[in-house]
Amino acid sequence: MSYDLGSVRRPEKLMLTALRGLWSPKIIDDVKRLIYKQLGEKNFVITPNGRSALYSILSSIDLDPKKNTFLVPSYTCVVVVNSIKAAGFEVIYYDVALDDPVSQVEHIEKCVDDTVCGIIVQYVFGFRFNIVKKIKEKFPKIFIVEDCCHEFGSRYFSEDKVIGTAADASFFSFDHTKYITALGGGLLVIPESSRLKTDVIMRTYFPRRSHFSELKIVFQYYTFYHLKLKRKESLTARLIFAFMVRVFGFKPTMQSYELSGEFRERDQYNLGLPRLSILCDQLKQIDSIRSYRRESVRRWVAEYGSEIEYGSDDTLRILVRKNKILEKHKRYQGEWFSSPLHPISYKHIGNFGYKTGSCLNAESLCGNYVNLPTGYIHA
Ligand SMILES: Cc1ncc(COP(=O)(O)O)c(C=O)c1O
Repeated sequence: MSYDLGSVRRPEKLMLTALRGLWSPKIIDDVKRLIYKQLGEKNFVITPNGRSALYSILSSIDLDPKKNTFLVPSYTCVVVVNSIKAAGFEVIYYDVALDDPVSQVEHIEKCVDDTVCGIIVQYVFGFRFNIVKKIKEKFPKIFIVEDCCHEFGSRYFSEDKVIGTAADASFFSFDHTKYITALGGGLLVIPESSRLKTDVIMRTYFPRRSHFSELKIVFQYYTFYHLKLKRKESLTARLIFAFMVRVFGFKPTMQSYELSGEFRERDQYNLGLPRLSILCDQLKQIDSIRSYRRESVRRWVAEYGSEIEYGSDDTLRILVRKNKILEKHKRYQGEWFSSPLHPISYKHIGNFGYKTGSCLNAESLCGNYVNLPTGYIHA
């Protein structure tokens, strides 16, 4: 069975790394330097998570007041939609192509009308075609944001340009399931080539937690790792987990208000020194994280061969046909994305303005494929 707890190779060292951060106030400069080294962009802000980065971008821009709609890929995470709506925009979903679950120009074109002021382009499951240039040519006035939450530091296919540097703004995630992690966290980037005035956006809205709360998050993650991986969901593990939720207030990344369509500014906290220290450690290890992911992909390909139709070299996850994996394993953990608006079920998806049957390719992908993790921990 596969669990992907992201890129943390030695979870037992997490607490030490976090504690070290308390004595290293300069760690923020190191993190900034290492991010710059990966992206080659200097205008960025570290945010509480990917969704708050998107929210910060959209709350700061001045767009044509007569236009109020963002186009969003129909194969994404619900928190993206919540942030767009919280910033005051409407959402229209565009379909993805079956042979490439990344945003597609032809599907986007079909959806652009007089109300559209912005487009979200995303890179998932290792698909990294740069379609920003084509969209810019066709719709030069439309504001383009790149959702790079499944990527960090990799390049567009057949281009020597780093992902997240082609559009007006981009955002990344450092959640524990992502390419590199700060146990929650995100990044807002305004590329050098953007039309945006960076001084409007380059501020951070959110407060920090106390050091104690930061350390608590690290401790919770560590315990979570042990329960999930070492005990494989035994009854004891579940009881300890339930205890943690009650006593320590353990919070999963997706909370109930997010599942019902809200983005709450007051629940977002910037990273403090302990988690910045973890992020710094991850950034330093990024080459080995990348080669581990590459090796993982090779292993999955050896196991599933041609059943793997989506995925590339050092991707976060790869997609494999569901029936094939279910033939091998009775059940599979970590299905992602399970609906066009993960993790919202088809029963509730209408509440988010998505009409079932409107984006058939995305629905087919969700129905027929599951993903295999390429992070450090899978057994
Ligand atoms: C494609 C995509 N965009 C955005 C996000 C949101 O990232 P975060 O959890 O850091 O807010 C996710 C999270 O899973 C995602 O998969």
